[in-house]
Amino acid sequence: MKAYRTVRGMRDFLPKDAETMRQVEKFSREVGQLYGYEEIITPVVESHNLLAAKAGEEIRERMYTFKDLGGRKVALRPEFTASVARLVATKLRNKPKPLRLFSVGSLYRYDEPQYGRFREFWQANYELFGSTRPEADAEILMLTKDLLLNLGLRNCRFKIGHMGILRGILSQENLDERQQNRIMQLLDKKRWEEALNVARSAGASPRCLKILKKVFETKGKDAFQVLGRAEDDVQDYEEAVAAVENLREILELAREGGVKLEVIIEPGFARGLEYYTGMVFEPYVPEIETALGGGGRYDKLIELFGGQPIPAVGVAQGVDRIVLAMKTQGVAPKIVKEKVVVIPVGEEYVAKAMKLSSMLRSAKLPVEVEVMGRAVSKTLSDADRRAVAYAVVVGPEELKEEKVVLRDMKKRKQRVVEIKNLCEAILGSLR
Ligand code: HAM
Repeated sequence: MKAYRTVRGMRDFLPKDAETMRQVEKFSREVGQLYGYEEIITPVVESHNLLAAKAGEEIRERMYTFKDLGGRKVALRPEFTASVARLVATKLRNKPKPLRLFSVGSLYRYDEPQYGRFREFWQANYELFGSTRPEADAEILMLTKDLLLNLGLRNCRFKIGHMGILRGILSQENLDERQQNRIMQLLDKKRWEEALNVARSAGASPRCLKILKKVFETKGKDAFQVLGRAEDDVQDYEEAVAAVENLREILELAREGGVKLEVIIEPGFARGLEYYTGMVFEPYVPEIETALGGGGRYDKLIELFGGQPIPAVGVAQGVDRIVLAMKTQGVAPKIVKEKVVVIPVGEEYVAKAMKLSSMLRSAKLPVEVEVMGRAVSKTLSDADRRAVAYAVVVGPEELKEEKVVLRDMKKRKQRVVEIKNLCEAILGSLR
């Protein structure tokens, strides 16, 4: 009999790989919850028109498009943003803003399979609707950084640009949207010379071409210095100056909010998708050439899908590439496996023990509470047998002072700890 294989570009995930993928998925969902993003699930199959509207030429050409048996032209989703925007323009249109939505799942692009590029891949996607303010853009940068850090990745660097800089210049030079999109596609592939040629033949002035060239060449790690230079270069283009100013505000907010971002500012950096109107960015690690994720502001898409004008900013983290980065750096997220048992000294302390267990679990500690009504000594010897790491004994003497006994089971030592410091006392000794 013929031995079947997976279709080119498609992969099986055997248990170990499946576990890592699910782990990244779990962490991305947790980061979403910590930032207040609600999860939604949208279909893998959508109308072709919806997905193609602003996907950009490259993705449009690579969509898995087909007619279903009812004769509808449909496609497998190549990204989440179009589906989420469809919902915000329709079923969710009356939801109060800001609206934060999270999705995770598989996507499909007929890309040429290579390292970090597959035809079926996974994203963890976050979209924030309803705010034009720089703190919304800064939030998206911050949550991206948090996710990568929580997964244990080191030396993450953010490439950041702003679509308003290039589009501001090109609009003032009267290039229409189609011509601008063509230029963005070329810039996305770093084909600067060709981008300049397209601008030239579309009628951009020689002065504009000179400025564009300068913008393409400007980049650097010192964000505020690069932005100062860019502002000088584009000073005759009002919208472009406003875009530089906006990017400065976003980065200042992130900095003042205590987020240390390693950045490379590239005012001439464009992304392939056509809906971006503001800041755009991609996170990288030095070991891998391709972006671990990508995102940016898109203030016009909801309107285009028939909704109210609702500003938006978002990011998609590439789960597969994050897994590759973790493998390359040899890192894994710290997951606490050590168990804690909480033991009430008598029946009247059971409720308190349960309350303390919830507190410990919300600090991500695996906790068992004693449910057999056994004496402390018996529960402790049972805990010993099952290799529990810590026991928390809840008794009258200590509780009077809002304290409990914390026992390190391996070292066989115990001390009295204030309840408000209990999580940190356990987590601290695990580090
Ligand atoms: P994107 O840059 O097309 O943006 O994709 C985001 C990430 O998905 C990429 O950085 C990469 O990690 C992963 N990815 C894309 N294509 C592949 C592939 N063929 N194989 C493996 N991984 C891939 C978007 O999709 C936008 N919807 C992001 C966004 C959300 N912007 C605003 N909100």
